[in-house]
Amino acid sequence: MHGCAGDVVEVAIGTGLNLPHYPAAIRLVGIDHNAPMLAIAEQRAAELGVGADLRVGDAEALDVPDGSVDTVVCTFSLCGIPDPHRAVAEMARVLRPGGRLLLADHVASSYAVVRGVQRLAELVSVPAAGEHFRRRPLHEVEAAGLEVTHRERFTLGIVERISATKPVARGEVRR
Ligand SMILES: C[S@@+](CC[C@H](N)C(=O)[O-])C[C@H]1O[C@@H](n2cnc3c(N)ncnc32)[C@H](O)[C@@H]1O
Repeated sequence: MHGCAGDVVEVAIGTGLNLPHYPAAIRLVGIDHNAPMLAIAEQRAAELGVGADLRVGDAEALDVPDGSVDTVVCTFSLCGIPDPHRAVAEMARVLRPGGRLLLADHVASSYAVVRGVQRLAELVSVPAAGEHFRRRPLHEVEAAGLEVTHRERFTLGIVERISATKPVARGEVRR
């Protein structure tokens, strides 16, 4: 996981598919509200020999102190979290000044025709599973006051990867 360092929180870690990609020298907390998925993540972490503190919790109300985390990771989950605005605000809250947010998600396509298909798919996926295809976490990241340092879109523009940092305020110390 490029750009990941120090104290890391993965929000909505699910079954831990990202676990093999973390560098060895981090301290990882993984949070998800689905206990059975976390149990699979526990097993995966044990098999990989990855140290991870996995906790049941809500992405919209993280049980993590303000400004205590170097890197927050969240992949393919903001599409299903009921209030992505609150979730990203929580991610920003727990980051230290200078800390980094790494996001990947499926988003509204850059092509109008594909967005039309996504809109139709949402007629089923939203009521059935709370799954959105046309969100843009980028807007939530900017609204949370983070500085986007890198972003790329691929697969017809439906997948977007974002890296953003929490600004260091004047007089504040970057740790
Ligand atoms: C599609 S899975 C992605 C899992 C993982 N991030 C990955 O990339 O493989 C979405 C995850 O979001 C979790 N989730 C949804 N809403 C949540 C919430 N409010 N708080 C915590 N986890 C949530 C689900 O339980 C599920 O594990």
